[in-house]
Amino acid sequence: MASFELWIKVLHIIAVISWMAAMLYLPRLFVYHAESAPKSPMSEQFKVMERRLLRGIATPAMIAVWLTGPLLAWREGYLLSPWLHAKVALVLALTALHGFFAAQLRAFAEDRNARSPRFYRIVNEAPTVIMIVVVFLVVMKP
Ligand code: HEM
Repeated sequence: MASFELWIKVLHIIAVISWMAAMLYLPRLFVYHAESAPKSPMSEQFKVMERRLLRGIATPAMIAVWLTGPLLAWREGYLLSPWLHAKVALVLALTALHGFFAAQLRAFAEDRNARSPRFYRIVNEAPTVIMIVVVFLVVMKP
């Protein structure tokens, strides 16, 4: 792998770590938020934490993943590889989940969350499962 591609990979891994950190923690914040009374000081604090995590970390990191991943795939000649197609399908699911979390964040911000802490506990597992399969695909290239 030439130096340019290695640098893109460095950026890709940093972006992936940042996106995943946020995608794993945001639904965990939703669990605690769903357990706190609307408009309570605790609830207002969660709103700030959620907004900063999404806008400051998750969304910029997701954009960086979508810029560096396809660039790497193209430069390394993986565009026709089946493992890459499976990976991209899973990353699309992760991106949809990101959009869903953004919608939930808006519901909390407007004090109209209707979902239970249990719902967010279950949803919390989805990014984990996707991440495990994605890393398997990119390392093993089955
Ligand atoms: C559309 C989105 C993405 C595309 C097109 C993509 C594509 C790629 C490509 C082509 C490589 C280089 C593989 C190699 O050189 O062997 C790579 C590396 C990597 N990707 Fe992605 N990726 C994307 C998103 C993600 C996500 C969301 C994750 C984690 C959840 C991830 C985790 C990794 C890891 C850990 C590596 C380093 C693997 C290694 O160096 O052996 N990628 N990615």
